Amino acid sequence: MTAIARPKNLWLGRWGFVLAATGSSVGLGNIWKFPYMTGEYGGGAFVMVYLVCIVAIGVPVMMTEIALGRRGRGSPIDAIRRVARESGRSGLWSGLGWMAMLCGFMILSFYVVVAGWAVSYLWKSLSGGLTADSVEGMAAIFGANNANPWNLGFWSTLVTVATMAIVGLGVQAGIERSVRWMMPGLVVMLVVMIVYAIFSGSFGAGVQFLFAFDPGKLTGQAILAAMGHAFFTLSLASGAILTYGAYLPAGQSIGRTTLMVAICDTLVALMAGLAIFPVIFANGMDPASGPGLIFMSLPLAFQQMPLGGVIETIFFLMLTVAALTSAISMIEATVAWLNESHGLSRARAAWGVGILLWIVSTLAMLSFNVGADWKLAGRHFFDWLDFLTSRFLMPLGGLGTALLAGFVLRRESLEVELGLPSAIHALWRFTIRYVCPVAIVMVFLDALGALNADFDWRWLAMVLALALLAEVVLARLTRRA
Ligand code: TRP
Repeated sequence: MTAIARPKNLWLGRWGFVLAATGSSVGLGNIWKFPYMTGEYGGGAFVMVYLVCIVAIGVPVMMTEIALGRRGRGSPIDAIRRVARESGRSGLWSGLGWMAMLCGFMILSFYVVVAGWAVSYLWKSLSGGLTADSVEGMAAIFGANNANPWNLGFWSTLVTVATMAIVGLGVQAGIERSVRWMMPGLVVMLVVMIVYAIFSGSFGAGVQFLFAFDPGKLTGQAILAAMGHAFFTLSLASGAILTYGAYLPAGQSIGRTTLMVAICDTLVALMAGLAIFPVIFANGMDPASGPGLIFMSLPLAFQQMPLGGVIETIFFLMLTVAALTSAISMIEATVAWLNESHGLSRARAAWGVGILLWIVSTLAMLSFNVGADWKLAGRHFFDWLDFLTSRFLMPLGGLGTALLAGFVLRRESLEVELGLPSAIHALWRFTIRYVCPVAIVMVFLDALGALNADFDWRWLAMVLALALLAEVVLARLTRRA
């Protein structure tokens, strides 16, 4: 069987896709969001659930998205419609693509604000504005940076313009080139910071906090947050990975690629945790300080390190680049769609979307100053964007993707694309058909408080085990000679 449409843009090198997908997934989610959420939800228990979600939901869903993208060769809307029609199913499944595009746009609207923090800290670092002798002092700097809408707006606007400029030019060249040096650089920076933390921070306390599993701390909300974050950090269900998959050359292994991306992403998140929490405990800071966590804690550590000033500047530079390579991927789906299906040039599409993005992100930015009181049900606009996408749109998108791949499409369709050995394929299929949908629905029910406390999990485990057995047997029986 051949692919349905012929690809126009493909990644250049053998590593092109891995680099770009890693660039998309490694970002503020790993270095800013993961630590502060871990802090808010009490540490090890959250980390554990997050890791389980990466393996059991994130990896299979990512494989599916890449396979859908490559088979449909297009933006999420077009690719999903083609793949569904090819299996003789309704083109309405492309609604999943619409949802993904909306989700990517909403995420980007608050992401550019956080990326703006990173750029402003890069600037402060260069101009010597990041000096304070206590956590409170650093918190004051963070607060002052947010308080002036013109200042904060300047930085988020800068990020918006940079993102659109790169996407307008076409992602391949720009991304492949920047990620190639940025990823190793980021890892080196994190290693330097971990070494510092080992010698000068409360390293034991940090490790304990990150990895001590205390099931008592697990609430339905924490589990939903961990699952949502697994989607967020891998850039799933928002068009990014699917669109990048559309540019993946035919011969490359989707399974291996996915593993590489997921492992890099997880390692960077855990390294960020190891770099940050020792500093937090050594300085008596509250790990549950929220979104400002890394901006208040790390500069304090940099000040005390030998060559700290230089390291600080390089760190915020890396953070900025990591944020940009992610931001680009969030809007690529929309730009690709306007370009392919509506004949707009990439540049026009990028600037058009950019204007809309600028308006929405400016509203999000105002949540930190002028609009501090504009709350709905206790949340700012900024918080709403994050909450709706991570807790609802992404898990639901993942559920839809799993159902589409597991039950709606013809079996051969993605089987050919994935090209896995039969036992592994059976495992993937089982996960996509049962584990992902059941897990996502259960987590929702649990977060809504609809699950009984004495729900007997053994039943569920048994049913799932039987389903797995059936899948494996079926795979054996239907194996082609
Ligand atoms: N994964 C990125 C991060 O961890 C964020 C991101 C990039 C993203 N593209 C996305 C999140 C698409 C959701 C959807 O920072």
